Amino acid sequence: MRKPKWRAATKAALALTGAGALAASMAMILPGTASAGTTLGASAAEKGRYFGTAVAASRLSDGAYTTILNREFNSVTPENEMKIDATEPQQGQFTFTNADRIVNHARSQGMSVRGHTLAWHQQQPGWMQNMSGSALRQAMLNHVTQVATYYRGKIAAWDVVNEAFADGSSGARRDSNLQRTGNDWIEAAFRAARAADPGAKLCYNDYNTDNWTHAKTQAVYNMVRDFKSRGVPIDCVGLQSHFNNDSPYVSNYRTTLSSFAALGVDVQITELDIQNAPANTYRAVVEDCLAVPRCNGITVWGIRDSDSWRSEQSPLLFTSGGAKKAAYDAVLAALNAGGTTPPPTTPPPTTPPPTTPPPTTPPPTTPPPTTPPPSGSCTATVSVNQWPGGFVANVRVTAGSSALNTWATTITLPSGAAVTNAWSANRSGNSGTVRFTNVDYNSQVGAGQTIEFGFQGTGTAGNLSATCA
Ligand code: G3I
Repeated sequence: MRKPKWRAATKAALALTGAGALAASMAMILPGTASAGTTLGASAAEKGRYFGTAVAASRLSDGAYTTILNREFNSVTPENEMKIDATEPQQGQFTFTNADRIVNHARSQGMSVRGHTLAWHQQQPGWMQNMSGSALRQAMLNHVTQVATYYRGKIAAWDVVNEAFADGSSGARRDSNLQRTGNDWIEAAFRAARAADPGAKLCYNDYNTDNWTHAKTQAVYNMVRDFKSRGVPIDCVGLQSHFNNDSPYVSNYRTTLSSFAALGVDVQITELDIQNAPANTYRAVVEDCLAVPRCNGITVWGIRDSDSWRSEQSPLLFTSGGAKKAAYDAVLAALNAGGTTPPPTTPPPTTPPPTTPPPTTPPPTTPPPTTPPPSGSCTATVSVNQWPGGFVANVRVTAGSSALNTWATTITLPSGAAVTNAWSANRSGNSGTVRFTNVDYNSQVGAGQTIEFGFQGTGTAGNLSATCA
């Protein structure tokens, strides 16, 4: 059977695409300036994937840089601008100016955005470095919630947690202030991120997790398997893939990619660079990704060698002068070669896109009813992540046999417990019986469908139950 072939959408159409749809169709987005097969982004999109780069906000004023960026790439990752020290330099004071510059540039070009990163032991602002215990746990969750909420609908995939495992042969978690808040800090971060932006893919991202036999790779694999078995919301694993003489590309890389994918997550190569940029190694990495249906995108960690965090290793696809290197040609050729199955998470349309514009729908001649029909019944369940002194609760509200137009649920907290903030719901009260109602965007719940909201609190939650009111 002939596979339906994706066609380039125009840049203008992409710029008009809704944020949610943009995120959902991350792998299908094509840059509008070139036909498929002649640029990295267009060629990757032909294979149902994206090809991205790390971007520094300070370089967006460099015309040579943005020319290559806009021509070649259809996904961007802010290199430093979304990190904790950049977005919450003082506790509770968020600044998104530089990250917004990158996000706005990406959106204006029809590129998707990988968010990097919500929780990390490095690049913490001073106030966070000095925190510990439940105060740090709460601050970390608040950071995840606030940043993911601010960018809700604009981020295709978030690196929710970055580099949480130790190097070497221990297979243990990395010691850090975050780890010392309790081993469940990673899953707590993922639950908070899901509640804040249900449309974003949530990734765990790490380095030296490329070699399948490496203890760190196995440790991350075991964590993802555990998360999937317990319903912790994880959608993807990021392999940074900084290859160099100490940490070289190995031929079992494809096994690593396919093994993670077999757990039911997407796999993304998130920070690729290779010491001296050997064309054969770049080609092998691309071929490995294309061989694994759920390897749905590749990001290089910078555009020109002069943009690299390791510029002395000349590890990227473009020279400092902006010329394409042999590695670029190898990557493009590999992307254009062969025929591989696009990732199953971004299914192609069952019919080819129309060649003529769809008919315009006339506006309705009667105004919509001013009063919504009565709401149906619902059920609600609560899951709680407790740590000493605080907790995060996720609530799932499921409509009964009729659709809901509004919903409300009450939850009674035990004495001593109090809600500090909620997301994806309006709240009245903060202790005793607390009432949560829909916000605008999640008021409509189809029959049998579920929405989620969440809240964070202090004290001990115990076993909470929710009642639809
Ligand atoms: O912007 C300041 C500049 O004003 C100052 O003069 C200069 C002097 O040190 O520092 C500049 O900031 C630097 C920043 O990069 C921007 O260039 C920081 O010192 C430097 O620490 C920072 O390094 C970043 C590094 O993460 C920090 O951990 C790299 O750019 C960035 O590429 C790198 O990215 C990480 C990923 O997030 C996670 N995986 C590994 C990867 C490579 O280390």
